[in-house]
Amino acid sequence: MSIDDRPIEPAPGSPIGRPTSRRDARDKVTGAARYVAEFRPEGMLHAVLVTSTVPAGTIGAVDTTRAEAMPGVRLVLTHHNSAALAPPPLYPFGAAFQSLLPLQDDKIRFSGQAVGLVVADTVEQATDAAARVRVDYHTAAFVPGASAPGATSYGAEDCGQIAEAVPNYARGDAEAALAEAPVTLDLTYTTPRHYHCAMELHSTTARWEDDGTLTVWEPTQWTAGTQTVFAAWFKLSLEQVHVISPYVGGGFGSKCGSHPHAALAAMAARELGAPVQLVLTRPQHFTCVSPRPATSNRVRLGAERDGKLTALTYDSVNEVSTDNLYVEPSGGLATLYYDVPHVRVDYRFVPVNAVSPASMRAPGEAVGSFALESAMDELAAALGLDPIELRLRNYTEHDPVTGKPWSGKNLRRAYEAGARAFGWHDRDPRPGSMRRGSELIGWGMAGGSFPTYVHPCAATVRVQADGGVEVVSGGSDLGTGTYTLLAQTVADVFGVDTDTVRVRLGDSTYPYAACSGGSMLAGSLTPVVHQAATLARDELLTLAAALTGTDAGDLEVSGGRVQQTAQPGTGLSLAEVLGRSGRTVVEGAYDTFTGVSAEDQAKFHGTLGLIRLPTAGPYSVYSWSAVFAEVAVDEDLGTIRLKRLVGAYDCGRVLNPTTARSQLMGAMVMATGAALLEAGVVDPGLGRLANPNLAEYMLPVNADIPDIEVLFVGEPDPHANPLGARGIGEMGMTATIAAIANAVHHATGKRVRDLPILMEKML
Ligand code: MOS
Repeated sequence: MSIDDRPIEPAPGSPIGRPTSRRDARDKVTGAARYVAEFRPEGMLHAVLVTSTVPAGTIGAVDTTRAEAMPGVRLVLTHHNSAALAPPPLYPFGAAFQSLLPLQDDKIRFSGQAVGLVVADTVEQATDAAARVRVDYHTAAFVPGASAPGATSYGAEDCGQIAEAVPNYARGDAEAALAEAPVTLDLTYTTPRHYHCAMELHSTTARWEDDGTLTVWEPTQWTAGTQTVFAAWFKLSLEQVHVISPYVGGGFGSKCGSHPHAALAAMAARELGAPVQLVLTRPQHFTCVSPRPATSNRVRLGAERDGKLTALTYDSVNEVSTDNLYVEPSGGLATLYYDVPHVRVDYRFVPVNAVSPASMRAPGEAVGSFALESAMDELAAALGLDPIELRLRNYTEHDPVTGKPWSGKNLRRAYEAGARAFGWHDRDPRPGSMRRGSELIGWGMAGGSFPTYVHPCAATVRVQADGGVEVVSGGSDLGTGTYTLLAQTVADVFGVDTDTVRVRLGDSTYPYAACSGGSMLAGSLTPVVHQAATLARDELLTLAAALTGTDAGDLEVSGGRVQQTAQPGTGLSLAEVLGRSGRTVVEGAYDTFTGVSAEDQAKFHGTLGLIRLPTAGPYSVYSWSAVFAEVAVDEDLGTIRLKRLVGAYDCGRVLNPTTARSQLMGAMVMATGAALLEAGVVDPGLGRLANPNLAEYMLPVNADIPDIEVLFVGEPDPHANPLGARGIGEMGMTATIAAIANAVHHATGKRVRDLPILMEKML
């Protein structure tokens, strides 16, 4: 299998790379954009979950009679009367984050697990009735968290067939090198459960059609993935499942696949012969949707006195559920970020009674860059070296894991540009030495990276009878700019205004697109759209040449006309070309499933089986970042305020600086939450989350966020993909947490190695 790698060079003045506002923005702020929960098929009923109040054990007696007698109630499902569901394809191979099949047995795995579903005419009736379903439990012993008594861990050796999912790594002899190193550090950094908290609630609206097919409206980052999961649950063919998801109001990884509750909406709809909508409550997002797991990250560094690293070990432990393995790959950065001869990375897992964790923005690197780059800051302080200088002394010009050259690495430039914009060279390195009135000022920096993945995609570009140009793709836009980017790409080929290009997205019947996750959609899809548009344009030129008796090579498409090259205003409009040729549509279809058989395309549909890894080719393809933070800590009150953030990013070619900047800023805000505010707090006695709501799970608000400056220091990377763009979505989530943590240390001299950094942890 190979993915088309022929470079595409946008024309001078191309809309590709031009700052362009999101075309969906106006519709979203005026309410014209319809999110999926606003699709209300005729006769739709409302479903509400009943969830477990205990963290482990079995369900005893269940009494649904009071609920069933409530007005408007149509159905109450429990494990006693639910239809059978078949197992879905599991992450990371498939798009189901949890193996848990809801309402299939009497086992309680965690507090908040679905134990019933009530369907009624209105959501209020269903909510009221759900509160009257009585469930008794036989509670069993449980493990509330990784550090609780009774918690045990397992490693790759205990993972059997899925051991290869554990990315343990070694080069050289790290233990021996540590024993010989003149300078060593042994530090452990811990992070709590993090929740995606997308503005748009997770919801599923399901309707069974007369022909036995299933239509699902669900916000998803991956229509094909969601399609495969529903097909598996209900033993349908892919063609029998139609997923519709035109807008996604934030996902951050939580909408890369489906969670068990979604099956219940479809199960109830089939039972009732009517469409059913299930919208999770905000608290249910903390127990039904897979979060980022709590992690522990032990970092040991061995170095020469000049700061040159000789050894690095990284021992990662993350919480998992009692059902599933999920690896938070936080040690990835440790394998490749620095030029260290002796490295070992090991992962272990602690089963706890909580919902299965899964991917959240920059899986691995978000917490991994916090640990590694905090440890490097501690080493710099121990050696009296400037943090940037320490990093430069360990800079690696090639990938130390594969030995391959980087496809592009402007990390030096990121350090320099970021430092200059921030004013880093005015920093007094002594902790507590910089102050403003009663505030201690701290400046910290850190670096990060994220791999660039490419997945085969397909797209269709059509020129309609009226001369309008549209592009159709099954890809998603979760507020990141896919609609806008695809319009820019088509506009580049047709020489028309970006605004005039129609874009249709988010439907599983549209041409196959990769997950809008892993920062891979834009880089995977835009080259395909460019090629599809070029095919459609070339056919138009051929038609116009025949109509006008000219050579197609002497014609161009520009400004909505086919004209003689460099003779604007001549020739025919696109509508005239179609009309006079007797055509209602001219279509260009393109895909990058080169060399993949139809059988394999079907087999790997909605999986990551065909993904191209960052190290698959002759180069290692990664994005790079350097982030600088200023904090002010009130000496009397201990309050920590973020004052400034500057992020310098090398993400290859920037396809749209406006949307790219927005994505990076958004992730820097998200990282600020992780650094200073966010934590899922577990009640150890009850084994349940104590703060499953947006009042007590603290997210940053506008008042918490100061000026953020985003710098782009990259250049087109022809080895990444034909348009030379590397991933952006996850990149803003790298480095920022550590930069803030390092700034807090610089302000106060206190090192907090447990997120979030709270004033009471500095006492
Ligand atoms: Mo990203 S965590 O793959 O949406």
